[in-house]
Amino acid sequence: MRIVLLGPPGAGKGTHAVMLSKELGLAHISTGNLLRQNVSQGTELGRQAREYMQQGLLVPDELVTRMLAERFRQPDIKAGFILDGYPRTLNQAETLDRILGQLHLPVELALNLTASEAVIIQRLCGRLVCRKCGANFHRTNMPPRQAGICDSCGGELYQREDDREETIRKRLHVYGQEAASLLTFYREQHKLADVSADRSAQEVLAGILGIVRQKNA
Ligand code: AP5
Repeated sequence: MRIVLLGPPGAGKGTHAVMLSKELGLAHISTGNLLRQNVSQGTELGRQAREYMQQGLLVPDELVTRMLAERFRQPDIKAGFILDGYPRTLNQAETLDRILGQLHLPVELALNLTASEAVIIQRLCGRLVCRKCGANFHRTNMPPRQAGICDSCGGELYQREDDREETIRKRLHVYGQEAASLLTFYREQHKLADVSADRSAQEVLAGILGIVRQKNA
């Protein structure tokens, strides 16, 4: 199955992409994680992307799309993938269709995770991320077993630079400007399914798996 995960910052795209990739054996491709890796490795791409990310703005299309096209050259995507954080604009959705069309691997399902602003702010202000493996936790919703330490790899947990309330509001604003045309694009292709993400992670996962089963039936 080839899935794109849509939805505002903090809706739970990363959290559920990880769960789904394990459950369904799909590659998890997160443009946010790929960009953060470039920033921490100090690559030219990371240097150019960092300022946009810090301000809660979108990184220019040509940088993100080049990085993604590179990732799609890896063979694991043939078994299916979950794309988390791309596309974010109509232009990116059209570019994605072109890239995947050339590979004969079109998107099959676009899952739109919805969540209220209050829930989003609470989630992002409390999010903790592993510096080593990128795993996500939350101070109260999904605390690590040992404070400050990743359950999966023992790495150090940190708060993302863009998870400050002011930047979160900026990211939500940017998302709101692009969301309608992006959702219409997939709705018109009959690929869009909405999932309420204002519930526990297990309930959200169950809802998504129900949609995937229906799609495969
Ligand atoms: P990116 O990393 O993709 O950030 P985002 O889209 O803002 O999404 P988030 O990672 O903040 O949220 P999420 O929905 O993944 O939520 P999560 O699962 O972590 O992008 C960062 C930046 O990179 C962008 O601002 C932009 O600058 C740039 N960028 C990336 N892609 C780009 C592109 N295509 N084009 C241009 N620029 C791009 O969950 C959040 C928290 O809530 C966690 O702590 C989690 O534990 C908790 N949680 C999740 N679900 C639940 C639940 N059901 N119940 C309780 N807690 C929950």
